[in-house]
Amino acid sequence: MSDDTSATPNWSFETRQIHAGQEPDPTTGARALPIYQTTSYVFKDTEHAANLFALKEFGNIYTRIMNPTQDAVEQRIASLEGGVGALLVASGQAAETLAILNIAEAGDHVVASPSLYGGTFNLLKHTLPKFGIEVSFVENPNDPESWRAAVRDNTKLFFGETISNPKIEILDVEKVAAVAHSAGVPLIVDNTVATPFVLRPLEHGADIVVHSATKYLGGHGTTIAGVIVDGGSFDFGKDPEKFPNFNTPEESYHGLVFARDLGVGGALGANLAYILKARVQLLRDLGPAVAPFNAFLIAQGLETLSLRIERHLDNARKVAEFLLGHDQVESVRWASLPGDEYYELAQKYTPRGSGAVLAFEIAGGAEAGRRFVEALTLHSHVANLGDVRSLAIHPATTTHSQGPDEDRLAAGVTPGLVRLAVGIEHIDDILADLEQGFTAAKTG
Ligand SMILES: Cc1ncc(COP(=O)(O)O)c(C=O)c1O
Repeated sequence: MSDDTSATPNWSFETRQIHAGQEPDPTTGARALPIYQTTSYVFKDTEHAANLFALKEFGNIYTRIMNPTQDAVEQRIASLEGGVGALLVASGQAAETLAILNIAEAGDHVVASPSLYGGTFNLLKHTLPKFGIEVSFVENPNDPESWRAAVRDNTKLFFGETISNPKIEILDVEKVAAVAHSAGVPLIVDNTVATPFVLRPLEHGADIVVHSATKYLGGHGTTIAGVIVDGGSFDFGKDPEKFPNFNTPEESYHGLVFARDLGVGGALGANLAYILKARVQLLRDLGPAVAPFNAFLIAQGLETLSLRIERHLDNARKVAEFLLGHDQVESVRWASLPGDEYYELAQKYTPRGSGAVLAFEIAGGAEAGRRFVEALTLHSHVANLGDVRSLAIHPATTTHSQGPDEDRLAAGVTPGLVRLAVGIEHIDDILADLEQGFTAAKTG
């Protein structure tokens, strides 16, 4: 018997979600992951301290940039996504922000899908331009030519969601990655709705994955956190002119050259330039650190990820079929439903099922949508997804209410759209609650 996960790299997903990144605590023997609720760590001596600060030796310095509880979660998520390293931060928004700012700066350009979570869309459309980063939203995220047409000389990365929220479109990761790579830039994807149990984008050519760990990774609606996973596939040293921040001495870090010293040809044996730069430069300077207790809660969630997702998907399929047969439903968006526009892509990328978030257009428009959501009693009316509980929301008046109509429509948010995040309760209770909503929507 061994608890050394590095000695057993061939464990299956279900085993790694419990064991990867964690051994019994060497001091106490604690079997469950301890919460290291500390800000700082005692250095052995001044040489040890100097080595840690110089990255000559890896170890704990200060919880704003690393913590042993956080470290276990990072290793586990990196293992589940098939990456070389990960960085757990305070929220999904922080993960996206750091993932982008680690590559792009003022004067640079980003190409993105318009089918995004409302908060991510706001970051890209409104906040990044204030930092001098321009973002072009492709016309048709599913057409590789649309991505190619948006590329400029100063483009530094592509960004999309693998399963978009709330439009439930499946990104053709292989094709979009191929266009990104031919333009010499990496593809970053948000894999929140899919989870690595359903889809591992790094296996399809994406270079970096981000998650709102708040959702299915934590899984219980208790914890805000986000994670960046680096596939280690993109060589930022290949084009020093395009990526100067990876190829010129970093003054704030002893003249470290990230791509040369920590990248493909560096001393670490893996290409860790991107993920280490995100930690030692951006997390250090911008500071959205995850709390150790929150890291622990994400670890708890991960231990049952596959079990929960199997049930989420089973229920989602039954809800999608129920909605499809309902006379008050004008259309259903769930890509694994035969006949859906994204069915073929869903079969390819998410054969277990295209996640447990689905959306439908209720007959009667915005007013019916509002009445439906208000009449639900089992479903909670919240701005979240990825909870064991079933959740419902009317995006036009909530998650996607803050921008202009055209942005809302580009994200697929029509007035009568209702989004469900199907939970893991008994399916009979979920369907009975939805029927209660439909009755209220009809009778007013
Ligand atoms: C797909 C997606 N990405 C990112 C986020 C942002 O994550 P967080 O709320 O953890 O900051 C969300 C939140 O709903 C999301 O749905």
